[in-house]
Amino acid sequence: MTLGLVTAGESHGPALVAVVTGLPAGLRLEKDAIDADLRRRQQGYGRSPRQQLESDEVTVITGLRHGRTLGTPLTLVVGNRDHENWLWGMSPFEPEGVPSGKGVKPVTLPRPGHADLAGALKYGHDDVRNALERASARHTAAHVAAGAVAKALLGVLDVSVSGRPVEIGGESTDDGMREATDSARKDRDTLGGIVEVVATGAPPGLGSYAEKRDRLDARLAFALMGIQAVKGVEVGDGFALARRRGTEAHDEIDPGLERRTNRAGGLEAGVTNGEPIVVRAAMKPLPTLMRPLDSVDLSTGEPAQALVERSDVQAVEALAVVAEAAVAFELARAALEKFGGDAIGDTLAAHRAYLERIADRWQR
Ligand SMILES: Cc1cc2nc3c(=O)[nH]c(=O)nc-3n(C[C@H](O)[C@H](O)[C@H](O)COP(=O)(O)O)c2cc1C
Repeated sequence: MTLGLVTAGESHGPALVAVVTGLPAGLRLEKDAIDADLRRRQQGYGRSPRQQLESDEVTVITGLRHGRTLGTPLTLVVGNRDHENWLWGMSPFEPEGVPSGKGVKPVTLPRPGHADLAGALKYGHDDVRNALERASARHTAAHVAAGAVAKALLGVLDVSVSGRPVEIGGESTDDGMREATDSARKDRDTLGGIVEVVATGAPPGLGSYAEKRDRLDARLAFALMGIQAVKGVEVGDGFALARRRGTEAHDEIDPGLERRTNRAGGLEAGVTNGEPIVVRAAMKPLPTLMRPLDSVDLSTGEPAQALVERSDVQAVEALAVVAEAAVAFELARAALEKFGGDAIGDTLAAHRAYLERIADRWQR
């Protein structure tokens, strides 16, 4: 049994949905903890008023009873409050009545850096909205909800995962990040940045080197790269390692199997080594600009300015929460692969037995 995740939902449709499969029964879930992460995703210094507009909240419609998982598919729903303004524009069936609200006019001005052009060509859409509604990062809310569930599972195994921005617009101090955001906002421009996710408490032995798809470093990279706007991922000292000598690049082993350094970011050969897991993701500047880039009107073929939509200046703080969720989900999956269990007690017993087996060598 392994953890599975399917998400669905459009940015301005009725709701976003996450279906999590493979959870053991009996895991305690708190609505407040899931909502707190949803709220964290919406906050941040560079966010637009839409985030204040929509205070996300989870509804669970399957797989949970009285706060404990049933061992059956868990369905998490996050409503799009703004949908009431898009009832005609996002009507699933042929809309009736006079067109009204938002999304009535077809979008024909693709934004460079978005799914707009590639999506319209790939799927044969005349209205670019048919591509951007799903490609938008709004559905990261569903991933964050699923990540909160994964964190609850990791929590009972004493693993905690935490993401934070380490660079915004090239600045790495709190003041610098704010100033860079203010300055980009004033110039009606956008910024990118770098986030770091650290997971502590994972035992050695999660992941495997047997096949490349089993390597946890590869799986974490996939999980992070799958997030909108992420253009680079590094594990541990990552790219900096390429510029060092071997004597400066690895982590020497002390008695008790502790390491003097953690340049590998807790992963060797795709397997956790007991040190904190450290991964970073680089985010490009947001592509919806108040000062639109050159584009082409797909309905006429004539040069035009890209669509201008209200957008964030930067969403690096939000990415930190989304990246945290992605890492948590992948780690929870790796933990369940190792420890299994239909009931959470089985998972805990296997975890305890494993820690006992390695205790004579791995002393923590
Ligand atoms: C949390 C988060 C929030 C985002 N918010 C915006 C936004 O407000 N405006 C925007 O243009 N892009 C935003 N993006 C980025 C786009 O969704 C992304 O660049 C686009 O879908 C194209 O995908 P790609 O950058 O992976 O190629 C956001 C991404 C994330 C992870």
